[in-house]
Amino acid sequence: MKYKTFNNDNTMPQLGLGVFRVENDDTAKNAVKHAIESGYRSIDAALVYGNEEMVGRGIQEGIEAAGITREDLFITSKLWLDDFGRDNVAKGYETSLKNLGLDYLDLYLIHWPGTDNDLMIDTWKGMEDLYNAGKVKNIGVSNFNVEHLETLKAHSEIQPVINQVEFHPYFTQEPLRNYLKEEGIQMESWSPLMNAEILSDQTVNDIANEIDKSPAQVVIRWNIDNGVITIPKSVTPSRIEENLDVFDFSLTPEQMDKISSLNQNKRIGPNPAEFNG
Ligand SMILES: NC(=O)c1ccc[n+]([C@@H]2O[C@H](COP(=O)([O-])OP(=O)(O)OC[C@H]3O[C@@H](n4cnc5c(N)ncnc54)[C@H](OP(=O)(O)O)[C@@H]3O)[C@@H](O)[C@H]2O)c1
Repeated sequence: MKYKTFNNDNTMPQLGLGVFRVENDDTAKNAVKHAIESGYRSIDAALVYGNEEMVGRGIQEGIEAAGITREDLFITSKLWLDDFGRDNVAKGYETSLKNLGLDYLDLYLIHWPGTDNDLMIDTWKGMEDLYNAGKVKNIGVSNFNVEHLETLKAHSEIQPVINQVEFHPYFTQEPLRNYLKEEGIQMESWSPLMNAEILSDQTVNDIANEIDKSPAQVVIRWNIDNGVITIPKSVTPSRIEENLDVFDFSLTPEQMDKISSLNQNKRIGPNPAEFNG
């Protein structure tokens, strides 16, 4: 496993498991448990996914099965728009902790910026409060564009360690990536497999055949070689293992360029400038 270092010197595994669109039942529990047993150390949860309870059960069972401790894991969850406002952040955080059966998170993110900048800034102050009180190890944001980040920077004391955004070969977000690099904020990709759509791309399949890897492994490795933290989702045990098995090869500069040039500025999710829940 590779780790990335934040602007506060804390670290995060570069690859983790996503759990969006997974039922709050044994599917979630078994996927998380299997991931941890297979060697995953990072899980990307969110209150709004509605499955924190069973994700939490999977974490506990995974810890036991893998013979590791809670401290070996890096657990993320996210504040939903319903809990915006400085005074509500702690409530959102405590709810996620209770759901997950944990007493701290490694990373807490503002899930979306919303469309009210004053409220977003006020909410970030609540995130800073949590961090300053030592209740959470790291705070960051998700779905922030450059304008959101500039607004935040002008009105806050602590910079986010990370921005989790849509990123895949059809949506490479070059300007945002460059900005994050300059600002020392890590980029994390959501829907790295474009919710499986990218796996049928011809160029990705040609490269996969060339190097005898699967299309998913090629796209995940393209994230890794781009320095991006990534969280592919799967509930299928063999795919969970396959997606982690990307550390014994790398892509050539030519293969990297070929994949990056697939960009079409094509989103599959909402535009953060407009989305309000
Ligand atoms: N911050 C945000 O606003 C935001 C938004 C979206 C997502 N996210 C996070 O990002 C994570 C990943 O994104 P995502 O869930 O949208 O989609 P994704 O990871 O891009 O794709 C998941 C899909 O790909 C399939 N898949 C996974 N590995 C595969 C493989 N090796 N071969 C073939 N198919 C494979 C999965 O199927 P099976 O599960 O059936 O195996 C599932 O249908 C989420 O789970 C969530 O944690 C965050």
